[in-house]
Amino acid sequence: MSASGKDSVTIAVNGSNRSLTAPVLHGTLGPSVVDIRKLYADLGMFTYDPGYGGTAAVESKITYIDGDEGVLLYRGYPIEQLAEKSTFLETAYLLLNGELPNASEREAFENGVIRHTMLHEQIRQFFNGFRRDAHPMAVMCGVVGALSAFYHDSLDINDPDSRRISAFRLIAKVPTIAAWTHKYNVGQPFMYPRNDLGYAENFLYMFHAVPAEPYTVNPILARAMDLILILHADHEQNASTSTVRLAGSTGANPFACIAAGIASLWGPAHGGANEAVLKMLSEIGSVSNIPDFIRKVKDKNSNVRLMGFGHRVYKNYDPRAKIMQKTCHEVLSELGIKDDPLLELAMELEKIALNDPYFVERKLYPNVDFYSGIILKAMGFSTSMFTALFAVARTIGWISQWEEMSRDPEQRIGRPRQLYTGSQRRDFVPVAERS
Ligand code: CMC
Repeated sequence: MSASGKDSVTIAVNGSNRSLTAPVLHGTLGPSVVDIRKLYADLGMFTYDPGYGGTAAVESKITYIDGDEGVLLYRGYPIEQLAEKSTFLETAYLLLNGELPNASEREAFENGVIRHTMLHEQIRQFFNGFRRDAHPMAVMCGVVGALSAFYHDSLDINDPDSRRISAFRLIAKVPTIAAWTHKYNVGQPFMYPRNDLGYAENFLYMFHAVPAEPYTVNPILARAMDLILILHADHEQNASTSTVRLAGSTGANPFACIAAGIASLWGPAHGGANEAVLKMLSEIGSVSNIPDFIRKVKDKNSNVRLMGFGHRVYKNYDPRAKIMQKTCHEVLSELGIKDDPLLELAMELEKIALNDPYFVERKLYPNVDFYSGIILKAMGFSTSMFTALFAVARTIGWISQWEEMSRDPEQRIGRPRQLYTGSQRRDFVPVAERS
């Protein structure tokens, strides 16, 4: 971040002689920012920006998005290159440490993660406290938050070694928790992790295998899973990442912060969208019902949205959606699914929406979730697991952003202000005197 003396913005209060000359700070890519930290001290005012659409709340070196051009970079590397050439754990190392690892760093990182995949045996008991039909995200919030009660040795957030071991524990244990959540839902025995398998492979094994028979993970599906994890690994200062940072800014421990991120991810406007897409496609039912559905989406009184379309930042095709679409075809072909009615419906819906002025004028394009649900369903995941899988992938993004925040000398407790529009000061009236 740099500020040159001549770059500034002057904010003048009309009708008074008060003004603020605010420095303009420049990043390495993307829009510059106006540093308004002195606004309240100098002008006695706050900025008003519901949804933070025009506010940079942090300085970050991790992920860059150019929403107009449809560009996504992790530590400078295009998502398309990482999707094609990297693995999830290598990408995780990159996000966490800033550089791609050399061969020995990569091996040490992978071994570090793999050594932490098991859960404390007492954590098994936690699952029994949930109803069998509990939503996986409810279980994930509870069990991930509960990890803080098991790792007192690594809760000192000012100690880099503690932060590092917590990062390993989270990246390694979240897939085990997600897989066990599913096993609990369907009433099958929990499968213990296998450290001889790759990260995505092990996850598929814990999810699909049963102790009664051998299970071999299909390598094409393991690669597709790894790719899905890479695509969802980080996405700049989105709602759940900002939630993790806000919780972390208070000094809360990383397990509690990631549990907060999981809660934030759950909503249908964020990570819950892939589940919502599949529900929407099932409700539409057939290609002939698409025009009627699109009419409802465009009717402002209906509250119906085309799920998997639109994004706060991308005003172009989400680059992840393009990769997802290709992977979707590969997975369906590997599984021998020739004519998937949901995929057919999704492709027709996409074609119609991309040519409809309502979507074109608002720059609404498919996002990452438009196709991910179809792939995940084909791979045997229940719809309610979709957001939990997103949480497995995003844990590395959350922990990388939390780590960056922990090292940032400018980090302060997150504390937004407000425009108060409630009552003026008034005196309490006893109940007998109220009309
Ligand atoms: N269907 C129909 N209309 C839409 C949609 C949609 N999916 N998304 C936005 N619009 C309209 C919206 O009604 C508004 O119209 P108008 O200007 O006439 O009032 C205009 O487009 C701008 O929308 P907005 O709500 O101001 O945009 P936002 O940046 O606040 O919302 C969003 C972004 C992702 C919440 C929204 O596009 C949405 O709800 N999409 C569907 C849910 C979804 O797919 N979410 C996954 C996001 S990607 C995964 C992730 O990162 O979590």
